[in-house]
Amino acid sequence: MKHLLTTSELEIKEINKILDDAQCFLNGGTWTPEQKVFVANLFFENSTRTKCSFEVAERRLGLDIIPFEVSTSSVSKGESLYDTVKTLEAIGVHAVVIRHSQDRYFDELTGRSGVSILNAGDGCGHHPTQSLLDLLTIKQEFGSFEGLKVAIIGDIAHSRVARSNADALVRLGAKVVFSGPKEWFNEELLENGMYEDVDTAVETADAVMLLRIQHERHESKANQTAEEYHQAYGLTEERERIMKPNSIIMHPAPVNRGVEIADCLVECERSRIFKQMQNGVYIRMAVLKRSIEHIEGGANHVNINQK
Ligand code: CP
Repeated sequence: MKHLLTTSELEIKEINKILDDAQCFLNGGTWTPEQKVFVANLFFENSTRTKCSFEVAERRLGLDIIPFEVSTSSVSKGESLYDTVKTLEAIGVHAVVIRHSQDRYFDELTGRSGVSILNAGDGCGHHPTQSLLDLLTIKQEFGSFEGLKVAIIGDIAHSRVARSNADALVRLGAKVVFSGPKEWFNEELLENGMYEDVDTAVETADAVMLLRIQHERHESKANQTAEEYHQAYGLTEERERIMKPNSIIMHPAPVNRGVEIADCLVECERSRIFKQMQNGVYIRMAVLKRSIEHIEGGANHVNINQK
């Protein structure tokens, strides 16, 4: 089986192959597995984009989706994640897409079951398909990553998107800086980028990536209103005016309009937020293909039929 757990496990050539395959799918290329492939999407945390775009990607590839809702499954009777995955494997499921609140939930699964695991987000840990779709969006815009500056601004410490992106971007040759409330800047992030004040970060970056406050993962500062946060750390209309002429705005979404980004900037000319979501379908097709090729015999990779 071929898992996708974190971006750090992916070599640069694998990242580039996924980005190329995704772009090929976006351009109209097609690929279907040679055998019947069953997949299940296990979302223990809420999702709109990741869940729906994985499902669109699976349908586009002609995969058989086994419906699974945590609330109506035997998880509600106390069945563990491990036993749930072993059960799906026993009935013939080849790959599972999992989102879970526990950091590195996949450590208890890898090596103990034969299904491919595609991580759709683990706690504050990693979100590899989000990172890959962000990389595709940046590559479409600038052609390469070398020499680019990417500012990741907001609730850094609790963001799996920040962690996955910083690792991949730095290895691809980009410079990453972090900004937002200092108490949400984690020393562990220093290996991939320095802290910068918001105005400098916004003024000098090629891509400004805003993150929402992860209220579900920590107590936010009760003494700060949404408007105060917006003025202190958000992409306000005033800050957008100091951005470089060709720089772009990104956000993994869901967006809290008027908090980390001004309402009118979400769909402005610089914004690639909905483009990121569109790219998510093609990235998920590419990572599903990568896992399925392995199920079908490893080295015999079949190229996408170009349009
Ligand atoms: N960006 C992202 O992961 O969105 P969802 O939580 O809606 O999947």
